[in-house]
Amino acid sequence: MKNNSCIIILDFNSQYTMLIFKILRKLKVYCEIYNYSDISVDEICNINPSGIILSGSSHSVLNNGPMLSNKIFNINIPILGICYGMQLIVKMLGGIVENIIGCREFGLSRIIIKKYSNLTNNIYDRINSNDRIFLDVWMSHNDVVTKIPNNFIAIAGNDKCQNAIIANEKDKIYGLQFHPEVSHTKCGINLIKRFVFNICNCIPNWNISNIYTTIVNNINNLVKSNDKVILGLSGGIDSLVTAIIINNIIGKRLICIFIDNGLLRLNEYKLVIKLSKNFNLNTIFINAKNKFFNALSNISDAEEKRKIIGKVFVDIFLEQATNFSNVKWFAQGTIYSDVIESKNKIKSHHNVSGLPNNIGLKLLEPIKKLFKDEVRELGLKMNVPHDILYRHPFPGPGLAIRIIGEVKDSLCKLLRLADSIFIEELKNNNFYYRVDQAFTILLPIKSVGIIGDYRRYDLVLALRAINTSNFMTAKWVKIPYNLLHKISNRIINEINEISRVVYDISDKPPSTIEWE
Ligand code: XMP
Repeated sequence: MKNNSCIIILDFNSQYTMLIFKILRKLKVYCEIYNYSDISVDEICNINPSGIILSGSSHSVLNNGPMLSNKIFNINIPILGICYGMQLIVKMLGGIVENIIGCREFGLSRIIIKKYSNLTNNIYDRINSNDRIFLDVWMSHNDVVTKIPNNFIAIAGNDKCQNAIIANEKDKIYGLQFHPEVSHTKCGINLIKRFVFNICNCIPNWNISNIYTTIVNNINNLVKSNDKVILGLSGGIDSLVTAIIINNIIGKRLICIFIDNGLLRLNEYKLVIKLSKNFNLNTIFINAKNKFFNALSNISDAEEKRKIIGKVFVDIFLEQATNFSNVKWFAQGTIYSDVIESKNKIKSHHNVSGLPNNIGLKLLEPIKKLFKDEVRELGLKMNVPHDILYRHPFPGPGLAIRIIGEVKDSLCKLLRLADSIFIEELKNNNFYYRVDQAFTILLPIKSVGIIGDYRRYDLVLALRAINTSNFMTAKWVKIPYNLLHKISNRIINEINEISRVVYDISDKPPSTIEWE
């Protein structure tokens, strides 16, 4: 068995790739996702993974769909192709894929296992009285494999799809026409387990101790004994966990910088002072509100705001870095979802893309490969209090992307207060931890209200609360009406300038979590 098990998932823009990733990480198998066009076969060889999974895709191999280099089949690494991934294997190795109208399948389907395979042995949903073995699977395909390549055998199929599972046992190349990663395929996880543990010989060692050791080894390899590191503390869990780990290794050579940019949650400054003390971090506190508000004046475009905020942050960090000798590294609490969303170009998260190309410091992003739940587990190991670990995330550009239009200090004050009322009520009513992210948004419109005998023409505030497991998709939370009522009453009564509160009932997709 390999010591460093790793599965590489090559993504052909499938909506389900993230599910494969999550399943593997849940199985404690380390894995990385690459867009098929972002990594060469040589680079894959350098990583030396234990196995490769080719994802599905909305494309068709019959219609100029994405391809791979044939070299992928010569590197002696087990491959599992899922849906498009399987059709790609078939096409590249000389089989035939066709579009036959009667053979399309979307949704649940039943296939019969016809032959033995290491991938499927003893995995099934049902055996009937004639000893026929069935699997219930989730299909989503237009095209169908009509001829399998030489050296492959058809393991399972049905009337519409004769080649629903194919295998080349000698070279350890497998194809599934259906989606094992989707929960409707009941045996799906077992098939994935069989591939990673029995065929790729992975060991489930992606646990929190190993993650911690890997991160520490990486930092030790990179940061030399006199190097200093500067790190932006934001009050969020990602930068805090990053700081604690680096601090454990290099102590006072880590210089944390906390910048009050005027765009923070209520009492954030006090909280970060307390955390810094508790974890013995060497932190410089800087009040730079005016710098940020000046730079943001007259700016309404969200992406522009993000870029400006990112730039002012970096300018301040770099200015601070010049006060110390031997600062070589700029550390950030970037996590995997930041990287993936930035790659998808949905938004420029300042953690990832706000940095100018040439800051003169090397980037240190020790938790870049982790998801939020893994960061939380790490934090727990390092005694970060529960209420900090499970605090809702807060975006780097802060309130600036929750004030639609131009950002002003006066608006930030209102929004901060409204937000704290919303969060306080969620906490008081035992709802805070049932929600993954909740916040308020100030809209650039005014609406009529009435207080006593007076008409008022004041601001509109939106409430947003979502449930999500990975922040890539999200569902709005059905907060009880009486709680929403109480929140709206408190906000309108306690904040003069707000005359109307609305509740956002949009999922992601199609909407994003933040409004900008
Ligand atoms: P969206 O709005 O993209 O949000 O659905 C997904 C998650 O990312 C956070 N977010 C950001 N975080 N800088 C950040 O550090 C940003 O510019 C940014 N925009 C969104 C958002 O709060 C949610 O948790």
